[in-house]
Amino acid sequence: MRLELRINGSVRSLEVEPLKRLLDVLREDLILTGTKEGCGEGECGACAVLLDGQLVNSCLVAVCQAAGASVVTIEGLSSSALTPLQRSFVECGGAQCGICTPGMIVAGQCFLDSGAAATDEAVREAIAGNLCRCTGYTKIVESIQHAARETR
Ligand code: FES
Ligand code: FES
Repeated sequence: MRLELRINGSVRSLEVEPLKRLLDVLREDLILTGTKEGCGEGECGACAVLLDGQLVNSCLVAVCQAAGASVVTIEGLSSSALTPLQRSFVECGGAQCGICTPGMIVAGQCFLDSGAAATDEAVREAIAGNLCRCTGYTKIVESIQHAARETR
């Protein structure tokens, strides 16, 4: 089936199985490997992307559900330099092994774009669907709060 997707601002026309997972289309057909697979069951958030501005787990989305919609992956958050949030993750130690980091940054950027006050509680709720085995979350929360202070 031929589908048109708007990925990171560019329209891409693809011949794909309509029920293929969006995660696999991103990684295998579009070679956008920044989006990671963790659990494959919607539990870890490693595969998070924005679908028409909403945070979704791309392992749970069939590519046909994204037809005609706008998809933003970690690669689409910046064309060259690191974003303020990505810089904050580096400066505040929000990334360790890195497997959760793309999903955390997509979720964190979605939160920052909402304009909500970056309280501890609000930030933790924003990343509640993203699991991290390394950091204990505190440095991730600090990274998002640091970016909020830098950009607002
Ligand atoms: S790989 Fe999609 S939520 Fe874990
Ligand atoms: S940095 Fe390793 S899982 Fe989060």
